Amino acid sequence: MGTEKIVILTGAGLSAESGVPTFRDTNGIWAKYDYREVATPEGFARNPVRVHEFYNMRRRAHAGIRPNAAHAALARLEREHEGEVWVVTQNVDALHEAAGSRNLIHMHGELFRALCAKCGARTPWSEDMSLTTACASCTAAGGMRPDVVWFGEMPYHMQRIRELLEAADLFISIGTSGNVYPAAGFVAEARAAGAHTVELNLEPSEGRSLFAEAVYGPATSVVPAYVEKMLNAGGVSVPRT
Ligand code: APR
Repeated sequence: MGTEKIVILTGAGLSAESGVPTFRDTNGIWAKYDYREVATPEGFARNPVRVHEFYNMRRRAHAGIRPNAAHAALARLEREHEGEVWVVTQNVDALHEAAGSRNLIHMHGELFRALCAKCGARTPWSEDMSLTTACASCTAAGGMRPDVVWFGEMPYHMQRIRELLEAADLFISIGTSGNVYPAAGFVAEARAAGAHTVELNLEPSEGRSLFAEAVYGPATSVVPAYVEKMLNAGGVSVPRT
């Protein structure tokens, strides 16, 4: 079993078969909502009620949502591969955790956490949120927002992510369209550091030409098959590109 370091970037396509809408597919979230109104600091300042309603709807829509076979395959890889496996997810859902992934970084924050603008506390949050919601930590009201990274804000844990990419032997991108930076640039960083790069997606992404290898199809079939191949091929035999 190899001890290769594996870094996996995931996007909305990984949760699609769990019933979570993606952003840019035909019936995606951005086909129904204007991201400038519901996913930017300016939109929140202009109309916080609308933004709270958007995230309240998304929290409620996650009730009963379960991880799928692709989430489970990534948790299995972390358990069974001898080397380090890290998932860097753009997703704000809690499906990687529910499937058992432990080495997990939410670079765009988490739908089920709240951030208090008054005291900076981040607390688990699954209820509706409004302008009158009080902070669980400082008890002040009026400063609560979802702990998600909006367009124009800096994604979380970027230093740690860059260190992981620098040390990766294998970089796998799953279920992301490659439209949003800095995540869309991770494949180039991993490749420059000498990692083998793989895209597992329903269809070729914007960054398709940057990957050394690609397998296209639904995540619930492509991801378990790729993990099975890696674990049964006596480890990850990655050519050093
Ligand atoms: N299996 C595998 N891939 C799928 C599936 C599936 N069942 N369904 C859709 N996909 C792919 C699509 O082909 C597309 O390439 O998942 C990708 C989803 O792309 P986006 O909707 O753009 O989602 P994502 O790439 O995660 O968006 C990145 O943009 O809006 C911001 O912060 C938001 O984290 C999000 C970021």
